Amino acid sequence: MRIRDPKVVAKFAEMHVDLQPGKVLADLTSLGIGGTTDLLRIKNHESLPDLLKLLDANHIQHKFLGGGSNLLVGDGELPWVVLQLVRPEPDVVLDGNFAHVDAAADLGRMITFCAKNDLGGMEGLIGVPGTVGGALRMNAGAYGMQIGSYVREVKLFRAASRKIEVLRGNQISFEYRHTSFAPDDMMLAVILELPCKPYKEILQGIRICNEKRRSSQPLGQKSAGCIFKNPPGASAGRMIDELGLKGLSVGDARVSDRHANFFVNAGRASAKDMLRLIAEVRERVQKTYGVSLENEVVVWNA
Ligand code: EPU
Repeated sequence: MRIRDPKVVAKFAEMHVDLQPGKVLADLTSLGIGGTTDLLRIKNHESLPDLLKLLDANHIQHKFLGGGSNLLVGDGELPWVVLQLVRPEPDVVLDGNFAHVDAAADLGRMITFCAKNDLGGMEGLIGVPGTVGGALRMNAGAYGMQIGSYVREVKLFRAASRKIEVLRGNQISFEYRHTSFAPDDMMLAVILELPCKPYKEILQGIRICNEKRRSSQPLGQKSAGCIFKNPPGASAGRMIDELGLKGLSVGDARVSDRHANFFVNAGRASAKDMLRLIAEVRERVQKTYGVSLENEVVVWNA
């Protein structure tokens, strides 16, 4: 979608919103898949209510983009614009055990910065690409921990009220790869309460998690992490592997040889290829195991 109305474009500047026309979303996602649309980069959280009012009044649909690392975007010209926060400097401010983090902060850099200041707890998520906001909205987790356990406060833009709100941690429910946020709420900032640990000890944990991840996941390839959620008491990766589906391909979309729940873009895969591969694997798992796998990856298909 292209925003051409000069009156609308002029208002973006007043709101400190940077319009980048015709961005290819394949360049902004870890899967390297996705069509074209206008990107609106937001420098000031407080401008969001007015910005959304402007978009609504002009019937311009939108999506909120975090780090693009758990996302499959459709092909071609997209029927909505994309909104993304500009990362402020600094993006993490520490106050005792509390880390005040902007949603646009890089997850790995935030974990390392806190570790250097003797704040741990987040070691399991080292190596997971993406922003803190993205990790928060889907309660990212690994190696027995999840980010939700450390959340004390969240500032967000509520899609329903079109207002900025602040929620305490106990007002939010964090479940396995799921939160009580609405799908189109936009995370703005979070306060995490992290346990004090000596840097050396945290570093040890980080090394162990890094090693486990390197040995079991295709880190050097274009992927969106795990494609499916694990069904209760089972592993999607193991089931797909047991069915002998590693290497199964549709075009350049391919089930990873290293971890069967990672689907990689081995070249110039389209969203159509990836979606066909997802459907094919889901069907085969359903047939053999009677389990309907739920997507873990977020799909923006027009
Ligand atoms: N397995 C296989 N073949 C495979 C992959 C896995 O047999 O191709 C077996 C493993 O040997 C292991 C079991 O399946 O016995 C579970 O595998 P793994 O430890 O790799 O964990 P997972 O359940 O597949 C989950 C998360 C990952 C997270 C790891 C580590 C989900 C969907 N996935 O994977 O998160 O990194 O645990 O904690 O919950 C993600 O969210 O995108 C993601 C990658």
